Amino acid sequence: MVDNISYPQTITLAMTGASGAAYGIRLLECLLQARRRVYFLISDAARTVVKMELGVELPSGTEALELFLSQRCKAQPGQLRVFGSMDWLAPPASGTGGKIPMIICPASGGVISAIATGASTNLVQRAADVAIKEKRPLIVVPREMPASAIHLENQLKLAQLGATIMPASPGFYQNPRSLDDIIDFVVARILDQLDIPHTLLQQWGQ
Ligand SMILES: Cc1cc2nc3c(=O)[nH]c(=O)nc-3n(C[C@H](O)[C@H](O)[C@H](O)COP(=O)(O)O)c2cc1C
Repeated sequence: MVDNISYPQTITLAMTGASGAAYGIRLLECLLQARRRVYFLISDAARTVVKMELGVELPSGTEALELFLSQRCKAQPGQLRVFGSMDWLAPPASGTGGKIPMIICPASGGVISAIATGASTNLVQRAADVAIKEKRPLIVVPREMPASAIHLENQLKLAQLGATIMPASPGFYQNPRSLDDIIDFVVARILDQLDIPHTLLQQWGQ
C-alpha cells in the first residue's frame, strides 16, 4: 500500500496467544479510528486464539492479513502495516526511528517470560526488547489466572524496566450492559495511557 497520508503517531501493536483476542482487535480498530499509524504483529498462538474466540481464520501471509485487517478495520492506505514474526528488517526490530510506543495486547505468560529474559526469538519479543532498551513506552496486557510466582516475578521485572503492566481486568463501576462495553473498558484504559482521545468510557467524575 502507498503511504500517502501523514499520521500524528505510529504505534506498534502485538497480539500474542493469551485469551482476550477481542481486546486486541478492538484496540486495533480504535487506534486506526484515532488516526494512528499501526505496525501490527501477531503470533501463531494468537491466530489460534482469534479463531477460537472470534471465529475468524486470519489469512496466513502478511500481505493478505494486512489487506484483510485494513478492510475490516477501515484503515486508510498505508495506515496499517503487518510484519511477519521473523521479519528482522521491520521498523519495530530496530532502535532507530524514534520513540514508537508498543502495546502487547493480549500478552501471554510466554511472551512476558521471553521479554523478561531478553530472548528476542521472534519479532514481538525483539520489538519489546528494543522498546525497553530505547526506553520507549511499553504497555503489556497480561491475561492469566491464577498468576504463579513466575508470572508475577516476570511482570515485576518488566515493570521495574519501565513497562506499564495493565492486566485485562475490566472494572464494573460504569455498569456495562454488553460484552462490548466490557471490552471497551480495557481498551479505553490502554488508550488513556497513550493520551489517545476516545469516547469509549465516561471520564471519572463527569
Ligand atoms: C485458546 C487459548 C487460550 C489461551 N489462553 C492463555 C491465557 O489466557 N494466558 C496465557 O498466558 N496463555 C494462554 N494460552 C497459551 C499460549 O497461547 C501459549 O503459551 C503460547 O505458547 C503463547 O505463545 P506467544 O506468546 O508466542 O503467543 C492460550 C492458548 C490457547 C490456544
